[in-house]
Amino acid sequence: MDKLVIEGGKPLSGTIRIHGAKNAALPILAASVLAEGTVTIRNVPRLLDIEVMLNILQDLGCRAEQQDDVVTVQSNTAYSSHVPESLMRQMRSSVFLMGPLLARFGEVEVYQPGGCAIGERKIDLHLRGLQALGAEIRETGSRIVCKAKRLIGAEIILDFPSVGATENIMLAAVLASGRTTIVGAAREPEIQDLERFLNAMGGKVSGAGTDTIVIDGVRALGGCDFEIIPDRIVTGTVMVAAAATRGDVTLVGTRPGHLTSLIHVMRRAGIHIDVENDIMRVVSRSRPRSVDRVVTSPYPAFPTDLQAQLMILLAISDGVSVVKETVFEGRFKHVDELGRMGADIRLDLNTAFIRGVPELYGTTVEASDLRAGAALVIAGLAANGRTTVEQVHHIDRGYDRIELMFGSLGGHIVRQPYERVSTGTHR
Ligand code: EPZ
Repeated sequence: MDKLVIEGGKPLSGTIRIHGAKNAALPILAASVLAEGTVTIRNVPRLLDIEVMLNILQDLGCRAEQQDDVVTVQSNTAYSSHVPESLMRQMRSSVFLMGPLLARFGEVEVYQPGGCAIGERKIDLHLRGLQALGAEIRETGSRIVCKAKRLIGAEIILDFPSVGATENIMLAAVLASGRTTIVGAAREPEIQDLERFLNAMGGKVSGAGTDTIVIDGVRALGGCDFEIIPDRIVTGTVMVAAAATRGDVTLVGTRPGHLTSLIHVMRRAGIHIDVENDIMRVVSRSRPRSVDRVVTSPYPAFPTDLQAQLMILLAISDGVSVVKETVFEGRFKHVDELGRMGADIRLDLNTAFIRGVPELYGTTVEASDLRAGAALVIAGLAANGRTTVEQVHHIDRGYDRIELMFGSLGGHIVRQPYERVSTGTHR
């Protein structure tokens, strides 16, 4: 379990290209199980979560390798539709395999992925969607077995625009017989990327990016060569870090259209953001302004995955800001750690009241989950003094060597192996 040691107070500056989107790559890797030919996927980030997904594909009998940021998958050798509980527990996104394995083998055995630091992470909408397509679902304890001789297209209404449920249903419906319509679908850019990927394999999917997605089942899907979109959450993380350190950073190869809500909030905080095609320049020369109210909500509203990062900027702003988290019930785990760095944040249920302070102070903090961990790194870069962030494996799930990313922009951040200090008596 590594730790990151950060010397704060240095403005970030320079130019950076952001790696591919974890949350686009994961469902697309799951979808590659459906291809009868070889699938080549480019701009795949090197992350722990990607490694776990490749291990699962190999465990199912596929050939799945990553060379730099290119992954090739051959799934004609796949022979199993049973995802081991140990691998399910390592990464809840393995739940994306339910749809494609059911479509391919007519049966799939998975396990409840279980909650995590940010919330219960139920999958009832996934299961209800598969049932609507004709799957029979049996749950014994945490084990879930789905069976379907044939998947039949249906109209499915989601009472919450769940990203994962939308993707799982798309992956099951693409080979079903007839038309499936998902009403109340999630609209995230990663879902649009999945639609593009399925169509590149010969699928017939339309409407991704709106709240109604139509999938006309086809008989088979072939191989393809596909490039993943840039990661909008990693892009937003770097933008906030540039602003929080009063830096001047240019991000290239971005999709500004995927970050309109963050750009809007950062400009309200007085941060200068220049947008030109796929280039964004973030400049901040003075203390950020507070922002009276930010509410996280499904895309295109302010993303829950950038809530913790934004809180750092608000924690050093010149007034009181209010942040309401409406997507996950446990997504304020970073607040206590920020309090130990001098932040003045009070929680009331799913709302955080943030009174800006002139500066944060370095200390030792612990990452509880992926985005809270990234937020603590930003806090360390902006703070006065040294910050040590522990449990860095959470961060490695979604950021490719975060210390190199911020180091390339002048941040003083070093990864060290974590040695447990023995608290017993010295012999
Ligand atoms: C995806 O998770 C992302 N993960 C999350 O990113 C992201 O925070 C989330 O979407 C929201 O944008 C991936 O894409 C791999 P949801 P997902 O289903 O699909 C409830 C990160 O940091 N719900 O939209 O799990 C659920 O409990 C991660 O990269 C049900 O009640 O999100 C949650 O409160 C974190 N029943 C809410 O919906 C269900 O069947 C949002 O979940 C499914 C979800």
